[in-house]
Amino acid sequence: MARISRSQVIINIIAIIVIMWLLFSVSADEEEDGHGFVRSGGMDRKLLLLGLKREKLSHFRFYWHDIFSGANASAVNIIKSASKTGFGTVNMIDDPLTEKPDLSSKLLGRAQGFYGVTSSQGEFALLMAMNFVFVQGKYNGSTITILGRNPVFNKVREMPVIGGSGLFRFARGYAHASTYKFDPSSGDAIVEYNVFLLHY
Ligand SMILES: *[C@@H]1O[C@H](CO)[C@@H](O)[C@H](O)[C@H]1NC(C)=O
Ligand SMILES: *[C@@H]1O[C@H](CO)[C@@H](O)[C@H](O)[C@H]1NC(C)=O
Repeated sequence: MARISRSQVIINIIAIIVIMWLLFSVSADEEEDGHGFVRSGGMDRKLLLLGLKREKLSHFRFYWHDIFSGANASAVNIIKSASKTGFGTVNMIDDPLTEKPDLSSKLLGRAQGFYGVTSSQGEFALLMAMNFVFVQGKYNGSTITILGRNPVFNKVREMPVIGGSGLFRFARGYAHASTYKFDPSSGDAIVEYNVFLLHY
């Protein structure tokens, strides 16, 4: 059997000291708030999730109204483009989200953000960057954030839900958008959104 060399013994002792130091510093973290503005070690997951139930999958369905015409426009062009295809155009939106395709049906929330028409030089694809803020019942004030590519002439477009706030903390999922109605002369559109969300 080979003899353990002096340097191996020293390396082992140093390794044990480092491990002890790591263990000690993590348990110290648990007792105090730490010194920086970020805490990652020793954070009690149960505490963080306090008041949150088990993760579940929910399906939300509503209608998104992009209105350029009339007195109550919810969409406005903020960046114009010289391109014939519209490449580079950006619109800001505060679009109502309703329960039914009819704008006068129950208001569930608003889609606030902007989208680029288009972000593609070839296919007619939008870049959507918007927060859905809900206004009903327990969801009032909670948001989800959608950031995705939207080739609007496809029957169904899929966009990621990249996060959320309030009841939708830690949310992730995707949205399926399909155009219900589009008026090419005004640009007004009604789009059905089906959002599949993993959240607590
Ligand atoms: C605009 O909104 C107001 C308040 O909600 C409403 O009374 C009015 O009828 C709307 N006008 C149009 C043209 O939709
Ligand atoms: C939603 O929250 C806002 C602001 O906190 C409040 O003014 C409003 O009445 C609430 N709506 C509902 C339906 O609870």
